[in-house]
Amino acid sequence: MPELAFTADRLLLFGATGDLSQRMLLPSLCALNSDGLLDQDLRIVCTARSEMSTHEFRNFAREALEKYLPKHRRGGMADFLNRISYVPVDATTPEGYDKLAEQVGDYDGLAIFLSTAPSLFEPTISGLERVGLTRGNARIALEKPLGTDFDSSCEINDAVAKAFPEHRIFRIDHYLGKETVQNLLALRFANILFEPVWNSNYIEHVQITVAETVGLESRVAYYDDSGALRDMVQNHMLQLLALVAMEPPTSFDATSVRDEKVKVLRALREVSKAEVVTGQYRAGAVIGEAVPGYDEELGKDSDTETFVAVKAHVDNWRWRGVPFYLRHGKRLPERVTEIVIQFRCIPHSIFEGRGAVTQPNRLVIEIQPKENIQLSMMAKVPGLGREGLRLRPVPLDIAMPDAFSDTVRRIAYERLLLDLIEGDQTLFVRRDEVEAQWEWIDQIRALWAENEMKPKTYASGSWGPSAAIALAERDGVTWHDD
Ligand code: BG6
Repeated sequence: MPELAFTADRLLLFGATGDLSQRMLLPSLCALNSDGLLDQDLRIVCTARSEMSTHEFRNFAREALEKYLPKHRRGGMADFLNRISYVPVDATTPEGYDKLAEQVGDYDGLAIFLSTAPSLFEPTISGLERVGLTRGNARIALEKPLGTDFDSSCEINDAVAKAFPEHRIFRIDHYLGKETVQNLLALRFANILFEPVWNSNYIEHVQITVAETVGLESRVAYYDDSGALRDMVQNHMLQLLALVAMEPPTSFDATSVRDEKVKVLRALREVSKAEVVTGQYRAGAVIGEAVPGYDEELGKDSDTETFVAVKAHVDNWRWRGVPFYLRHGKRLPERVTEIVIQFRCIPHSIFEGRGAVTQPNRLVIEIQPKENIQLSMMAKVPGLGREGLRLRPVPLDIAMPDAFSDTVRRIAYERLLLDLIEGDQTLFVRRDEVEAQWEWIDQIRALWAENEMKPKTYASGSWGPSAAIALAERDGVTWHDD
């Protein structure tokens, strides 16, 4: 795969007045600037439909930064705002692109970020192509959702591929920008300890939970069309699964890492009816606060799922017989993203005659909010033990923020924007990965349609429908809720 020859000296941001831009993109860029990580020559051209002057946009950006970026990371904000210019463009009409090209001017490297609805990708790309902004090493970053199923994702990918070769397309999955997600790779491949036991001989099952306390928020139309499976499982959760399950890549580069991930995604077995549970939240209380049900928030009845639990299998030698339990939901009791690796029992206990019970080891990688890695180990409870020898699990605990207290906690988009500017695709999703992800998701949705499956209800503030607990319990597995 050819490398991009130049670090971008122009960043062109579409959808610059949108929510993502205000909350994540502008704050991340400002933070990178304040840490001296943006090249002095980098100029940022922002665009959206709203008629605004550069001066007005800078004020708008300043307000977003003051709201979403902590004060200590805002050093050099005036310098950052000075890098920005603004051009109003209606992406669906050809006018405006000439002005945009004029504003971008000559570039050595151009990075384009589409933080817009996917329906605008095609017209935007044609507009850019017409004025020559796809030439040279121009690269493009795309935000999800990349389609609603395999076919629609192919349409989007085909439209983008007309103007950009794959090595210049950066598909964002913001989970890959999270430090703890990257740390999963360090844990697996920078230590000798885990790899020899990272297989079905030693691992009994894996759990991946992404629990959220928020509900529909303001994304009524998008979410009701999407639902939990397509919003979170298709992308973030399958990426986490791929990172847990992949073979060691030969090096930490875009081709090697993505080659290994795609093999896992392609090895996902078709899910059966008994292996998936969906739910939709009703009124309840989350962290002590009363919240309405999904249909009340939506203002109408809906069959969209806000919770999904799936038992997945990776059909290859390494993972034969090891279930991967995936669970995601909105309005759950706490916000937590974690991966649990449950090891098998020891083959023989020398302590049994002494009355001691051993429990299998468990590795819990908490991605957020705590960023902890915890390995539960059996230890002897101190004491003379007339009544026998007592063993108890104790945690070997790494709290990342404490271990690296001298480093800055970064927004996931800082990493991703910097990689886009520098042309490194390792943490971006390749077309074949997206397609494999959709193929698996489409099969589950077809199963729901065939069996006319409707989401079961669950009270906000609970861990989802009881059927989700039963899904694991049938196999003698308990979800890791504590
Ligand atoms: C987004 C989903 O991709 O990820 C949202 O569309 C979800 O529904 C969000 O809330 C979660 O991201 P994070 O980084 O807060 O876990």
